[in-house]
Order: sequence, then C-alpha cells, then structure tokens
Amino acid sequence: MKEQHIIEVNKDICIGCSLCKNDCPVNNIIIKDKKSVIKNQDCIKCGHCVTICPTKAITMTGFDEPPIEFTKQHTLDSNELLMAIKSRRTIRKFKNKEVTSEIIEQIIESGRFTPSAKNAQDVSYIVLGDDKSKYEEIAVKFFRRIKPIVSLWMKDAKEVTIDDNFFFKKAPIAIMVVTKDKISGSLAASNMSLMAESYGLGVLYSGFFTSVVNNLPKLRKHLNLKSKGHVVTTLVLGYPDVKYRRTAQKEIANVRYL
Ligand SMILES: Cc1cc2nc3c(=O)[nH]c(=O)nc-3n(C[C@H](O)[C@H](O)[C@H](O)COP(=O)(O)O)c2cc1C
Repeated sequence: MKEQHIIEVNKDICIGCSLCKNDCPVNNIIIKDKKSVIKNQDCIKCGHCVTICPTKAITMTGFDEPPIEFTKQHTLDSNELLMAIKSRRTIRKFKNKEVTSEIIEQIIESGRFTPSAKNAQDVSYIVLGDDKSKYEEIAVKFFRRIKPIVSLWMKDAKEVTIDDNFFFKKAPIAIMVVTKDKISGSLAASNMSLMAESYGLGVLYSGFFTSVVNNLPKLRKHLNLKSKGHVVTTLVLGYPDVKYRRTAQKEIANVRYL
C-alpha cells in the first residue's frame, strides 16, 4: 500500500463483541478488558475489522473517503451474469462515439476495488485517449519490421495485415493495466471489462500492444513507463459497431472433482 494507515479502535464505542478478532485473517486483534486491541500496525490493512464492526468503533486513518455503508445486500443475478459472460465477444469494430470521463472513472473504480495479493493495491492504469495514435504508430512500425521474421515460424502471421489501426481498431480509448503482480492486474482487468460491458461498451484485450509495450524501450519511454512497471494487459474500449447473435461454442470444461 502506498500510504501509511493506522487502525484505530474507539474504546468508547467498542462493545467487545469479538467479531473483528474472529474475522482478522492474520490474528492481529485481541480482546482486552472487553475491548478490541490491535496487536500491531504492520498488518496488510485489509479492512475486515473496519467493515465488520457493528458499532463503527474501528476506523483506518489516511483515506480520502469514508467507507460506504450498505443499506441493502448487493447481489448479482446468476443467470444474467452467466449469460453476460457467455454472450461477450472480443470487439474489433467500434463506433465513432466517445466514452464519457464518468464511465472511464467507473471502469477504473471497478479495478481499484478488485482484490490484490497481500492487499498491495499496486495496480495502476494509463488511459490512452486522443493521443493514442502516436503510440500506435510506434507499435505499428515495430510490428511491420518484425513481421517477416515472425512469419518464419508463425504461419498465421503471414496472413495478417498490419494497417495503421492494427492495435486500437479506431476505438476511442485504451487502458493499460500496470503492475508487478500479474494475477492482481489480470483480476482488475477482468472486473474492468465486466464494468465496461455493463455500460454497453465492447472490449478487446490487446495482447499485441501489451507485448510491444513490454519489449520496446522506445515506446516505454514515450509512455513514461518506469522499469518496474509491467503492463499486464491493454483494454481497448468503445461502443461496438458489430452485433453477435449467438454464443460461440467452447470446449467442455476440463474438471476433476476429488
Ligand atoms: C490476454 C488476451 C490477449 C488478446 N490479444 C489480442 C490481440 O492482441 N488482438 C486480437 O485481435 N485479439 C486478442 N485477443 C482476443 C482473443 O483472440 C479472443 O479472446 C479469442 O479469439 C476468443 O474470442 P472471443 O473473445 O470473441 O470469445 C486477446 C485475448 C486475450 C484474453
């Protein structure tokens, strides 16, 4: 985590119910004189103690915003969710229609609230808007240069036409997801895709652009990417200019129940 946060227990409000103690994943809370006591401040600051307390006695300092109180249970409709997942397609044709900054912020918000390993919250986002053709141009040049070499061992590469919009397909925005931990970044990207789709947007995970960014120092320099920043994926986003009418068939799941 970037900031120092202190977990505080308001002893006047704490009722010593032990809910926080019993839920703490690192056994960092004891009950003393019928009050919760935080053993040490060097924990992962997951916030379970804050979120489970029935009297709001536990708080964490150093955040810009207070916790959001739940006034109802937020659940997803399983059938709707599964059909949304099944009907999703990679979108490679986009309408010439802007994505508002409010929607972009909500997509990033869904990434921000995605769990990260050790609660590191070390996933960051680079939004490429109007200027993205500048970066695409560099990537296109690089791909055109390496295509003859790649074609030697990749049969499919020969058939691919690398036009000027090869990476971003004229989509209005692309969001690069950057982090050291690939799993945390991928989970954030997955939630972001779902969020984007809930706004009627289509998504292309651009593995090609991602691999150019991670391997071409010139492009990294242009994007001002630090040496530690690994781009996990690039989400190319916009309103789809294509309609799919049925699911694509998939292989049966390889599952073992033991
Ligand atoms: C990590 C990842 C990287 C991908 N990279 C590209 C890409 O660079 N260009 C592209 O056209 N499609 C890319 N795809 C899309 C896949 O080809 C696509 O998901 C697959 O063919 C299945 O099609 P569907 O997503 O429409 O179900 C990528 C998908 C994933 C998950």
